[in-house]
Amino acid sequence: MKVWKIRVIHGPNLNLLGVREPGVYGSTTLDGINQQLQCLADDEKVEIDFFQSNSEGALIDYIHQAYREEVDGLLINPGGYTHTSIALRDAISGVSIPAIEVHLSNVHARESFRHMSYIAPVCVGQICGFGAVGYQMALQGLLNCLRG
Ligand code: DQA
Repeated sequence: MKVWKIRVIHGPNLNLLGVREPGVYGSTTLDGINQQLQCLADDEKVEIDFFQSNSEGALIDYIHQAYREEVDGLLINPGGYTHTSIALRDAISGVSIPAIEVHLSNVHARESFRHMSYIAPVCVGQICGFGAVGYQMALQGLLNCLRG
């Protein structure tokens, strides 16, 4: 049976989860989110790895590396780059790996500059507003797509 290879990509400032605006982003740390995903990945018998960077270029390099490593699917919270980065969008569309965009907060209920995502149009879908649980929903959704 095929073991799906999933990569989880956390963008800028998400390393601050737990201390960063807990009223908006919740109190779960990034390690906590990754541990929850690791448990779900173990249950689902899929391989999962995690990456966080505050640098746009490092995020793009990681996506290219995922292509070389024949990764099957991506979960990505691009943080503030969601609303600014054509280069990150081009990296995702360039590798043609199915991706799901995740946000802890409901970006559509916040400032208007957060309503637009450069990333969402090149993703399978977007999950936002469910806090840390949204990542688990995204992993379930991604596996559902991959398994067909
Ligand atoms: C975020 C939403 C973005 O607008 C913001 O810049 C973030 C976090 C979220 O998870 O809700 O850094 O991606």
